[in-house]
Amino acid sequence: MIDETTGALPLHGVPAARVLDEVRALRAADRPTHGGRLFAYVYDPGVTGLDELAQAAHAGSAHVNGLDPTAFPSLLAMENALVGAAARLLGGGPGTSAPDVVGSVTSGGTESLMLAVKAARDARPDLAEPRIVVPVSGHAAFAKAAHYLRVALDPVPVDPVTLRPAVADVAAAIRPETVLVVASAPSYAHGVVDPVAEIAAVAAAAGVRCHVDACFGGWTLPWLRRLGAPVPPFDFAVPGVTSISVDLHKYAYAPKGVSVLLHRDPALRSPQFFAYADWPGYTMVNPVIASTRSGGPIAAAYATLRHLGEDGYLRLAALTRDAVTGLADAVRAVDGLRLLAEPESTVVCFTSDDPGLDLFVLVDELTARGWHTQPQLAYAGLPASVHLTVTAAVAPRVAEFGPALAEAVAAARAAGPVVLPPELLALAGSLTPEALTPDLIAGLAAGLGLGAGPADRMAAVNTLLQAAPLRLRERLLVEFVGLLQRPTW
Ligand SMILES: Cc1ncc(COP(=O)(O)O)c(C=O)c1O
Repeated sequence: MIDETTGALPLHGVPAARVLDEVRALRAADRPTHGGRLFAYVYDPGVTGLDELAQAAHAGSAHVNGLDPTAFPSLLAMENALVGAAARLLGGGPGTSAPDVVGSVTSGGTESLMLAVKAARDARPDLAEPRIVVPVSGHAAFAKAAHYLRVALDPVPVDPVTLRPAVADVAAAIRPETVLVVASAPSYAHGVVDPVAEIAAVAAAAGVRCHVDACFGGWTLPWLRRLGAPVPPFDFAVPGVTSISVDLHKYAYAPKGVSVLLHRDPALRSPQFFAYADWPGYTMVNPVIASTRSGGPIAAAYATLRHLGEDGYLRLAALTRDAVTGLADAVRAVDGLRLLAEPESTVVCFTSDDPGLDLFVLVDELTARGWHTQPQLAYAGLPASVHLTVTAAVAPRVAEFGPALAEAVAAARAAGPVVLPPELLALAGSLTPEALTPDLIAGLAAGLGLGAGPADRMAAVNTLLQAAPLRLRERLLVEFVGLLQRPTW
């Protein structure tokens, strides 16, 4: 039965105003993208008029196709300007030790990382089994790249206190087949900057590329440094750093769909490209994964950077830094909570050692009070934690966060930790991914209340996932999301 009220292809077209009303009604169920109460997924500078500017620029270039830079020189010009700005911010360009930096605009951090891995892999066609060395705190997109590109992943543990890899462990993980070594500046989960200079040095000594994943922090660390923060060297000023990724749709506050992948020189970038002449169609050369690319995100990012300018970003970084300090103080003030890492960028990450305080319940209690934080499951000796990505729009909210946190902690204590039926926990601990049947998955999802409205109470789901071995966790996630992604008719 076709639902004429929500179906994407109604029998008769719907007037524009009504369509927009429908989209607005759908959007009402979403987390609030603005207002400084959502600490993940969105990056909000809280700058009046910026959305309208970005939207206008986006709309003007939405139908322009990045497939062919000679057909649409506007896009090439804006892309080159974005790459130049990112390179300059990250220690490259004329007058620096990395004067020949080149780059590409991609659709996001994941694509940038996948292309960094592809470039490194394809620079070594002599290797049958190329490998990459990635600290476990590195973004999961490296594992995705390894999976997609059939490159072996050599994870390096991180110290449970510093949350950084030991350089000796990185060095020991490098083998003759290693094509890339990774460092994060900072890591997403904890917001700590890896010892980039030391990691790049061991990579260079082995003749291996070193990628700095600055997707998250590449557009904040330079401003924080200018504001006086003790930011360690992490960019092209560091010898041995061969490529850097920085996402403009994060702290450059551009709408989604823009990241920049930089290489120290054109020869390093060359194997990132894909060209194909062995077909009868148009001449095909793609610097990035997508072929047809909308000009919208690129134009929106260009407009955003030009409008905010260096002084704007510096001001926003100062606001963000103060918000981080305020939130960290709020966490310190609550008995039973402790910072997992001292904030050194724009992340506040905390945990609890109190068995009576279930962090997943706390996250739900915060959600119920309109504060949306991100739970992180216990992993490899690291405790479960709560992650806050802090952006400039949080600054005016900081004073409200402390009392809300204290209240949510009291409520979580009163509610007590999640108690799953022992047979369910035993099942989660013993099931193999292969043993999962559609009926079992549907039963689990129903029992956990998944798919029945907004996911505001997730503590039980997180507890179950945490109890499951990693491979089962992954499989459950795939199956649960598969249940959500069903066509509406
Ligand atoms: C350090 C880091 N790298 C890569 C990514 C992946 O970026 P995206 O979600 O844009 O693909 C993220 C996203 O948060 C990140 O924080």
